[in-house]
Amino acid sequence: MHSNLHSSDTTAERGEQLQMLFKQSMRRLAASVSVITCAADDQWHGLTATAVTSLCAEPASIVTCINASSSVLPALNASRHFYVNLLRSEHVAISNSFGGRLKGSERFTEGRWALGEEGVPYLEDAQANLFCQVEHTIAYGTHIVVIGRVKDVRFTEQVAPLIYQNGLYVGTTPLACSL
Ligand SMILES: Cc1cc2nc3c(=O)[nH]c(=O)nc-3n(C[C@H](O)[C@H](O)[C@H](O)COP(=O)(O)O)c2cc1C
Repeated sequence: MHSNLHSSDTTAERGEQLQMLFKQSMRRLAASVSVITCAADDQWHGLTATAVTSLCAEPASIVTCINASSSVLPALNASRHFYVNLLRSEHVAISNSFGGRLKGSERFTEGRWALGEEGVPYLEDAQANLFCQVEHTIAYGTHIVVIGRVKDVRFTEQVAPLIYQNGLYVGTTPLACSL
């Protein structure tokens, strides 16, 4: 069965209903989980994000969307450097900690963190680390769209991403018929 808007509703009701249906639709958008980290004034900051995508390879860049109220944004704007740590399927506890279970620098008590050149922490056993510089920020709705220029990368041979879909964490298994 498919859900969509009821034509008899008022404009306000349609607005509310659209938001609810949109959220339900987005639960079907499986997404790889990352932790975005930055540092300023000797303080480490980080949050869990699924809104991370490759933008282009020339120049190597990514885009991420961060809620405008997020505690990481002042540090990200001040230092202009941030790292994207692509989580592995075993990193559920890290995702939960950086997703709000823990606060501030307490979040870094979960996982093995090393220090990058810009003084920003990176997750040692992430699937990949993207070392980025802030290129552009665009305010849109409740979020800030951040375009990051990738300055360096690190990755492991094994590809085993942590995926978030329908409010749950899952892993990936290749389909027998792929390609
Ligand atoms: C799986 C998952 C994905 C998330 N994706 C995003 C995201 O893409 N952008 C965002 O701003 N917050 C996202 N969040 C929410 C933030 O991680 C969460 O609100 C966090 O507590 C923000 O940090 P702060 O409280 O220090 O501001 C996600 C949370 C989870 C658990």
